[in-house]
Amino acid sequence: MNQETVNYLNEQGIIKPEIGLILGSGLGDLVEEFENPIAVPYQDIPDFPVSTVAGHAGQLVYGKLANRQVIALQGRFHYYEGYDLQTVTYPVRVFKELGVEKLIVTNAAGGINPDFNVGDLMIITDHINLSGANPLMGPNIDEHGPRFVDMSDAYSKRAQNILHDISQSQGIPLQEGVYTWFSGPTYETPAEIRFARTIGGDAAGMSTAPETIVAKHCGMEVAGLSCITNMAAGMQESLNHEEVVEVTKKANQKFRLVVKELIRQF
Ligand code: 6GU
Repeated sequence: MNQETVNYLNEQGIIKPEIGLILGSGLGDLVEEFENPIAVPYQDIPDFPVSTVAGHAGQLVYGKLANRQVIALQGRFHYYEGYDLQTVTYPVRVFKELGVEKLIVTNAAGGINPDFNVGDLMIITDHINLSGANPLMGPNIDEHGPRFVDMSDAYSKRAQNILHDISQSQGIPLQEGVYTWFSGPTYETPAEIRFARTIGGDAAGMSTAPETIVAKHCGMEVAGLSCITNMAAGMQESLNHEEVVEVTKKANQKFRLVVKELIRQF
């Protein structure tokens, strides 16, 4: 953690955000709803990595949403881009240093649970790390957190309950399940997806778990939400393109509403 990063962000007017938000592919436009936003491109931030994926805006946005002071990563860093996991998770360390105690991690994921449909939102109840790597490998920095991190409550039960309440009150169905983290950048083979299903996975993705691990290391409470954008390899896919576009648009509306309410109540 470089203090220069935090000082620079403080100088831009980013003061004591309460909730951190990591927005996955196609979900970044939630920042349009921020009041009094301050947007800082990654390339302007000292020691910050720069995003390489098309469709990722690559900026930090601070502002008020649902009456809470939030800071959002609009476009995250992925392991498959070639960053080491310390770099991938650097923004979480920065969030913590700025004062963030609660983190909402979101992503686009492939559905593995056969009961899921394209366009579903899934409350992440837990994750399985299939990457073979871990952002905490290497010497432990004791000021950041403990050597051995308890992951038995990685995705806050309290946050999951809030999400179920939102689902009820807003009439928005939410799935729940286990997110399996693959390194990417290839999508999985059908055999890998059958494996993931067998060991208890409900969705497959290429992000989120490393950020959650680091958030837990530094004592944050984490809430996770996946948008099921497609079914994973080897699974039935009965939608045509127009329907997919329609479903994604609808999912994005639901997503915004659910995340906004979660921010209000988190
Ligand atoms: Cl099927 N797999 C992974 N790893 N990430 C995804 C995906 C599948 N669909 C969207 N993102």
